[in-house]
Amino acid sequence: MKQGNVLILGSGGREHAIAHSLSKSPLLKKLFCIPANPGIAELCQTDKISLSDFEALATFCEKEKIDLVVVGPEQPLAEGIVDFFTQKNILIFGPSQKAARIESSKAFAKNLMAKYKIPTASYKICNSKKQALQELSGFNEKLVVKASGLAAGKGVIICENHNEAKNVISEIFNTNKFGLAGKEIVLEEFMEGEEISVFAFTDGKSYVLLSSAQDHKRILEGDKGANTGGMGAYSPVPVATKEVLKEIKDKIIQPTISALANEGSVYKGVLYAGLMLTKNGIKVVEFNCRLGDPETQVVLPLVKSDLLELILACVQGNVKNYKLELSGKFASTVVLASKGYPEIYEKGKIINGLQNFKNSDELIIFHAGTKIVDGNLVTNGGRVFSITGVSENLQKSLDLVYKKIEEIGFDGKIFRKDIGYRALKGEKT
Ligand code: AMP
Ligand code: GLY
Repeated sequence: MKQGNVLILGSGGREHAIAHSLSKSPLLKKLFCIPANPGIAELCQTDKISLSDFEALATFCEKEKIDLVVVGPEQPLAEGIVDFFTQKNILIFGPSQKAARIESSKAFAKNLMAKYKIPTASYKICNSKKQALQELSGFNEKLVVKASGLAAGKGVIICENHNEAKNVISEIFNTNKFGLAGKEIVLEEFMEGEEISVFAFTDGKSYVLLSSAQDHKRILEGDKGANTGGMGAYSPVPVATKEVLKEIKDKIIQPTISALANEGSVYKGVLYAGLMLTKNGIKVVEFNCRLGDPETQVVLPLVKSDLLELILACVQGNVKNYKLELSGKFASTVVLASKGYPEIYEKGKIINGLQNFKNSDELIIFHAGTKIVDGNLVTNGGRVFSITGVSENLQKSLDLVYKKIEEIGFDGKIFRKDIGYRALKGEKT
């Protein structure tokens, strides 16, 4: 592909960040996004097609002469969009359905890690309530219960004791709480330590790592309250030193890519490793088959190389010869969410303060749950925007973001004021 048309699939802050980076590429002819959001629509031609309707998406690609498809979310990957498009000879970036099991089946991921000695929490896979209740005795009081399948980020429950775990297990099997995703569950040892996310772009053999990131999953400051999709992130993470990164590469990333290839599930795309730096070494919390949200909003603005060139190197099997350049700067992002999130929240609140705003290299607003109604930009989701600052140090990047947040208004706007606090405190585990 000398210069081509690219279609991004998805509609969140992550996809806006992908669009923002791709739109700068000299290799790009025209950018498209389905279903997109108003922020993305400023950069792309958009359309409304269901991401499960592979036939309709392929017809769109033929009509618009799309040269490459970049998949944002996990659902279409788990449903086999890469296999479908590959059969139709349409170039697509992401793992096959089999390889995407690294995220879509926690049982598959855990068994793979056990077989290839990739460090992770000890676990048991259970297919019935009876079995799960029996297996509990093999765990410490505090443990984690997980639905094996995709559960929109809600399938992980940390239980303080076995009684709580019994109730959770009974609820999952009796009420079918997670549907098919909860037919099989994983009981897991509870781990403690600082969490980091790393993203490997791979062609199935070789890979390059973007800079490390730390998400803030809880709704309240100090990492309290309910789990969310992510309330903010920063990159790079100070605890991810050169030595730590070397261990991650040697003991986790390369062995996982090789293991998947060895099992006949060659992994092309982005391998997202959620890791915990425990007292007993670095362990995998989970793998995802895509970029993270909101981590993408900090890791991509730090990439100096052409993102499209990197994606093509993965799709075409050239990562071995690819040299990734990072800017050496720091980025942080803070999510503005609707009051009530992650539970019930209202939509349709008018958003003020963005009328004359233009994204720059230092300050970028990535849309997520926004919509245009009667010419007004209004809220249309739990996570509404994420605002990214890029600077020569973390504090300066955060100052840029928090100053901008003061200028943006919508009824019931909520956000965390402590993004990056672990790094700023120099907190170590
Ligand atoms: P996930 O939805 O798989 O990203 O998990 C959500 C969060 O649950 C993770 O970011 C961790 O903070 C926590 N978690 C998952 N598994 C474990 C574990 N085995 N021990 C401690 N915390 C965990
Ligand atoms: N930031 C967490 C995720 O994307 O799964």
